[in-house]
Amino acid sequence: MTTLKQATGPAYTRIYSVGAARGENAVPNDDLIGPIDSSDEWIRQRTGIITRTRAVPETDAIDLSTAAAAEAIEKSGLAPSDIDVVIVATISNPKQTPSVSAIVADRVGANPAAAYDINAACAGYAYAVAQADALIRAGAAKNALVIGAEKLSDIVDPADRSISFLLGDGAGAVVIGPSDTPGISATVWGSDGSKSDAVGMNHTLTEFRDGQAPWPTLRQEGPTVFRWAVWEMAKVAKQALEQAGVEAADLAAFIPHQANMRIVDEFAKQLKLPETTVIARDIETTGNTSAASIPLATHRLLEEHPELSGGLALQIGFGAGLVFGAQVVVLP
Ligand SMILES: CC(C)(COP(=O)(O)OP(=O)(O)OC[C@H]1O[C@@H](n2cnc3c(N)ncnc32)[C@H](O)[C@@H]1OP(=O)(O)O)[C@@H](O)C(=O)NCCC(=O)NCCS
Repeated sequence: MTTLKQATGPAYTRIYSVGAARGENAVPNDDLIGPIDSSDEWIRQRTGIITRTRAVPETDAIDLSTAAAAEAIEKSGLAPSDIDVVIVATISNPKQTPSVSAIVADRVGANPAAAYDINAACAGYAYAVAQADALIRAGAAKNALVIGAEKLSDIVDPADRSISFLLGDGAGAVVIGPSDTPGISATVWGSDGSKSDAVGMNHTLTEFRDGQAPWPTLRQEGPTVFRWAVWEMAKVAKQALEQAGVEAADLAAFIPHQANMRIVDEFAKQLKLPETTVIARDIETTGNTSAASIPLATHRLLEEHPELSGGLALQIGFGAGLVFGAQVVVLP
């Protein structure tokens, strides 16, 4: 009898390179406080945000993804045609189909790579990294382009004081491929749909179509999400370190989802990060860009601290679902 052939891949993977694209405009707190009866001081103190990047109307998540991906591919040393899977994590593409990923694959020269979008909100990038790593090691793909991309400004209500002032636009991209040494640890990931009401869209598109609701926008129960992030996600971050077989003291960098500076600070305390671990604080000038926030923060860290290259970074994403994902990676 003929034996079925099943694919196997290389033992290890790593991130080769990072690319980034942020919305063109820096939007300061003062531009947003009117309709939410807030102040520059309140937003700075409660979130750490001074300005956030937002895209102009003509720029969409596909444009941001394409720019970030082009940079990542260029820096990877691979030809675009070497990419055989493109995964885009996003919650803000205003078209359900076709996917952002298929269009971006074509635009960057990776046609006919397999291409699909995933929806895991602010954990989307960590989920996509987990998938790319697993696909390559299983022999289902050789090289992956992973992108987190959001144009959240299209789904904010300027009069909403629960989340709108947090959100920004941007895309971060990485190329992942085979490695001689381990470069991406096992991912700790999961969900808690019993808390699906804590953060997400306030209406459905069919309610909007039927005139029963305004344009759907993001809303959250801020304090609920805050408490969940600080208590439950610190545990997930510790599990990720354990699974990777590394200690906090081994980390060159800590790159959490850029949700709120106070959450970042609280994580750092609970993980007992040493002074030598550089902590990503991109939220200050980029805002919360959901799936894009970790790769954008990674890109900025490597620009500001090129010596981190080759070091270990713990990354953790968490958000609407609720969902979470964390892993340790070797920085490109
Ligand atoms: C949204 C968030 C910044 C609010 O901060 P907070 O410290 O929890 O604020 P609270 O909602 O407890 O409100 C505290 C006070 O500020 C007021 N307030 C709330 N939103 C405000 C705003 N946008 N501007 C000014 N004041 C505001 C409240 O009315 C309250 O006033 P009171 O003390 O007089 O009652 C914070 O909860 C947060 O970042 N949550 C998690 C975000 C996150 O991780 N999201 C994940 C999905 S990406």
